[in-house]
Order: sequence, then C-alpha cells, then structure tokens
Amino acid sequence: MYKAAVLTVSDRSFRGERPDEAGPLAASLLEAAGYRVVETAVVPDEQPEIEAALIRLAGEAALVITSGGTGFSPRDVTPEATAAVCQRMAPGIPEAMRAASLAVTPRAMLSRAAAGIRGGTLIVNLPGSPKAVRENLEAVLPALEHGLKMLSGASADCAAGD
Ligand code: MTE
Repeated sequence: MYKAAVLTVSDRSFRGERPDEAGPLAASLLEAAGYRVVETAVVPDEQPEIEAALIRLAGEAALVITSGGTGFSPRDVTPEATAAVCQRMAPGIPEAMRAASLAVTPRAMLSRAAAGIRGGTLIVNLPGSPKAVRENLEAVLPALEHGLKMLSGASADCAAGD
C-alpha cells in the first residue's frame, strides 16, 4: 500500500473563506483506490510556500496530489512550484488528464497542471474544483500504481500489466 499526501493550493481556503472540498475529495478517491493518505494540507497561492509544502510532503509519501492553482490567474503558480522541486517531469500524466477532460469541457485546455518526480515521489497537479479533481484523478489513477512501482526500484513488468 503506497502512502499519499494531498496539498490544496488556495488563497481562499487558506484564509478560511471557503471550505476545502477538493482536498478531502482527492483524499477519499485515493483511499478508495488503496492508498494510505498520511497528510492533507492547505497553502496559499504563493510559490515559496507551495514548494516548501511539496518538499515536506514528498519526504512523507510516494504520491503527492495537489489541487488548485493550475489556471491562468496571475496567482496560479502550482505548476511552476512543482517543476521547481522536481528532478524529472512526467508530462504524460497531465496529457492524459487533459485528453480525458476535453471530452467533458473545452476549458480543460486551460489547466496548466504538471506532474513530476522528486526523489522517490511522484507529484501530480489537479485543477481546483471538486468536479475537476474527480474527473482528472479518475483519468490517471489506474496507471499511477505501475509508475510508483517503477519509481520504487521494484522490477515492474510492463507487459504483465502490473
Ligand atoms: N478539467 C475537468 N476535467 N473538469 C473541469 O471542470 N475545469 C477547467 C480546467 N480543467 C475543469 C478541468 C478550468 S475552468 C480551469 S480554469 C482549469 O482547469 C484550471 O483550474 P484551477 O485554476 O482551479 O487549477
């Protein structure tokens, strides 16, 4: 069972002006998929704070899911913070999320979500609305465990589909 952590990036949720629905939803989807969610946290849309939280959570979990801050607003910097703390990017994951999401809404193209690898941890950005969290996470969850297995150094047989 892999450990996961969830980071909500939202000025309004951080200030307590809007309840964080996206983070708990991501956590429950992860738990339903067999992950052990070891921490959830909320940070404002400030790149240094996002980076610090990502570094900390990557030290605790094999998978870190973020929600929010992937759009075009001037304060949307989650993808930049993610790229700054990752050694290798994993563009296929956001490509798959956007491909699946475009079947739901043309606005899917407005998410700049990134995914990358920091040490032994995979970090995946999701957009901020609960609807988008569900649609994006469900699009990639079936393949993530195979990636985590490879990342852990365990021999993963791609052909066997494990
Ligand atoms: N993807 C899916 N599947 N469903 C959605 O409703 N919303 C889009 C997009 N991706 C959406 C989606 C919208 S409207 C925006 S602005 C971007 O995600 C960025 O969202 P964020 O700024 O909350 O991260």
